[in-house]
Amino acid sequence: MTMTTTSVTFSTGHRRQFLRFLAASPLLSALPVAAWQSEQSAAVLANPRDALNVMDFEEAAHRMVPPAHWGYAASGVDDDLTLKANREGFKHIQLRPRRLVDVSRVDLGTELFGTKWEMPIFICPVGGQKSFHPEGEVAVARAARAKHTQQILSSASSTAVEDVAQALGGPLWYQLYAPARWEDNEKLVRRVEAAGCPVLVFTVDLLGGRNLETDQRFRRLDTRQCSSCHDAQMVGPSGRPMNKGLNMTPLPPGTPSLLTWDFVDRLKKFTRMRLLIKGIETREDAALCVEHGADGVIVSNHGVRATETLRGTIDALPEVVEAVRGRIPVLVDGGFRRGTDIFKALALGATAVGVGRPYLWGLGAFGQPGVERVLDILRAELTLTMKQCGTRSLSEITRSSIVL
Ligand code: FNR
Repeated sequence: MTMTTTSVTFSTGHRRQFLRFLAASPLLSALPVAAWQSEQSAAVLANPRDALNVMDFEEAAHRMVPPAHWGYAASGVDDDLTLKANREGFKHIQLRPRRLVDVSRVDLGTELFGTKWEMPIFICPVGGQKSFHPEGEVAVARAARAKHTQQILSSASSTAVEDVAQALGGPLWYQLYAPARWEDNEKLVRRVEAAGCPVLVFTVDLLGGRNLETDQRFRRLDTRQCSSCHDAQMVGPSGRPMNKGLNMTPLPPGTPSLLTWDFVDRLKKFTRMRLLIKGIETREDAALCVEHGADGVIVSNHGVRATETLRGTIDALPEVVEAVRGRIPVLVDGGFRRGTDIFKALALGATAVGVGRPYLWGLGAFGQPGVERVLDILRAELTLTMKQCGTRSLSEITRSSIVL
């Protein structure tokens, strides 16, 4: 037994060293993602069906995704402490199962803004998905379509909203990183409306810059040239497909920012889309969201890619739910990896739960089938948890389903 364990560790370590060597090799310096992936023969999962849980995709994706891109996805900020907090938060909440309930039929369905969802799980906006798989956002859209799951497209998408909307074939939600000038917001919002998006998700938690140290360390392992896999013009904000025709140059230092609560009022008046605010973590801001007419909030810390030493989002959720008092839906994301995690958020009053990295791992390891399997696993785990707790529908999951 000891020998087997030792030999597994040894060979994994060697494979890693070999991959690091490959990454540093000038021969590979011009490899695009697709070529890099075909070089990675040491897959830990031969097939997405072999994954027992969503974490199984993490190492599989790590092997397949070039180091700089992997570091970008894996990174938190500073010491990555809040990454741990997002996961640790679930550990101090326990379930209160109810027995002898007929759970032969369990309904995970919910409704949001007049649209029926088969399950309370959505796909978070993540920028530049072609750096995880050549089909990027389109592969994710096809998986979301196959599994009837809501997708939110990032402003930093590597694919244009029109193409993703077509691949999804249903209502695509669009996440806004607001340009610095109002006229560019107008252009962008009209484009997104024309693409048929019914919901705009305004991200507010990354307005002050950030320090992605893990990302920078991984970049040093990667000697490939950016232009080998990004269209050279895609490097930097102005080259992204959604920024075409917009002025993305920052305002001169010291210029007052457009991005205050007045901007929310203006945006709300300007667009016919529903407006969600993503990145809310306090009761004060939750109350302001309602006051300024937001149609919903997403409790999020950006997958810990903005501010360090925050609470986990599951710990921030209760005060936001309390402040909102049922007037608008409260969604949440950050560290959700298990059906039990999702169940706990629903019990605390969330309407739906988002995942970021888990589907990126599925995407990086296998493309569309990997994303589909991640969604299947989360759904199956949530169904199992609901059965074990004697809850046959989401409305039966309440505060009394858990102990804090
Ligand atoms: C993100 N996230 C994010 N959020 C957003 O509003 N716009 C964006 O472009 C991105 N980009 C992005 C890139 C990468 C690589 C990651 C990991 C995350 C945050 C994302 O929407 C979500 O809030 C978190 O990913 C949820 O946490 P988990 O599931 O990754 O732990």
